[in-house]
Amino acid sequence: MKHFLDIHKTDPSDLRHMINDARAMKTARAGRPKGMPDDELPLAGHMVALIFEKPSTRTRVSFDVGVRQMGGETMVLSGTDLQLGHGETIADTARVLSRYVDLIMIRTFEEDVLLEMAEHATVPVINGLTNRTHPCQIMADVMTFEEHRGPIAGKKVVWTGDGNNVCASFLHAAGQFGFDLTFTGPETLDPERGFIEEARARGAKVEIVRDPVRAVARADLVVTDTWVSMHDSQSTKERRHNQLRGYQVNEELMSHAKPDALFMHCLPAHREDEATSAVMDGPNSVIFDEAENRLHAQKAILRWCLGV
Ligand code: CP
Ligand code: NVA
Repeated sequence: MKHFLDIHKTDPSDLRHMINDARAMKTARAGRPKGMPDDELPLAGHMVALIFEKPSTRTRVSFDVGVRQMGGETMVLSGTDLQLGHGETIADTARVLSRYVDLIMIRTFEEDVLLEMAEHATVPVINGLTNRTHPCQIMADVMTFEEHRGPIAGKKVVWTGDGNNVCASFLHAAGQFGFDLTFTGPETLDPERGFIEEARARGAKVEIVRDPVRAVARADLVVTDTWVSMHDSQSTKERRHNQLRGYQVNEELMSHAKPDALFMHCLPAHREDEATSAVMDGPNSVIFDEAENRLHAQKAILRWCLGV
């Protein structure tokens, strides 16, 4: 059973295979209308359940379109539609869904829900974001970086702001793809220590630099994300804004990175908070390529999981 639960749980050679496959599939259908099927239909006859216990634009639409382009069928389910939201256990839900569908993608809150789903499902399970990680996003981000700048190995990536779930998957990717990661943000919002140690154990250079200007020096890529994630209490908003204001990605901060440093944000963004529109819409921003590449990267993840 090949689940795609996290980047650090997936073999680096498989991750590389998926990035290559994503690029090949993207090239093969360049210029086609989005609803036109691919030449190859590896998911023909396959039914995929897409479960969302949190809102989503990119994950939801890109998985749905990607499955259909490869000839499969999808079923989009919200947590409240399912008995899961009304007391049925995750284990029973996993066993039942496995009798109807060939793969389950789930976006949820607690990581334990994902892990329990994977433990009891008899079909592959894909992590579409939990409170702790967001691996599909970072597969698209690695693909995007390499399209623009070549191999990511040995490059310097700087994460600025909240050390959240997307940051965690960047740390996992640093270990698996061999790039350096500098985190800059307030100490209270540091990424989990274990994620940092794991990336270091795999040979990645991981640094924490509190001063954002010093942090971005020689950066090849500057990344940020929302200051308040979906699982964070809205009551933290004001405090977060006060803590993080100095970590905004603006043109001044970008001027301290390499002149060709790319800017990424997984979106959705709060413009003028974590990043200014001048940067988000500027010449070094690749935010919409990242969004597009969710489609191609996830198609490769689906094929890898299903072995098709
Ligand atoms: N980046 C991302 O996962 O976006 P959605 O929340 O819209 O799916
Ligand atoms: N960190 C954000 C990412 C959204 C795609 C969140 O979890 O809300």
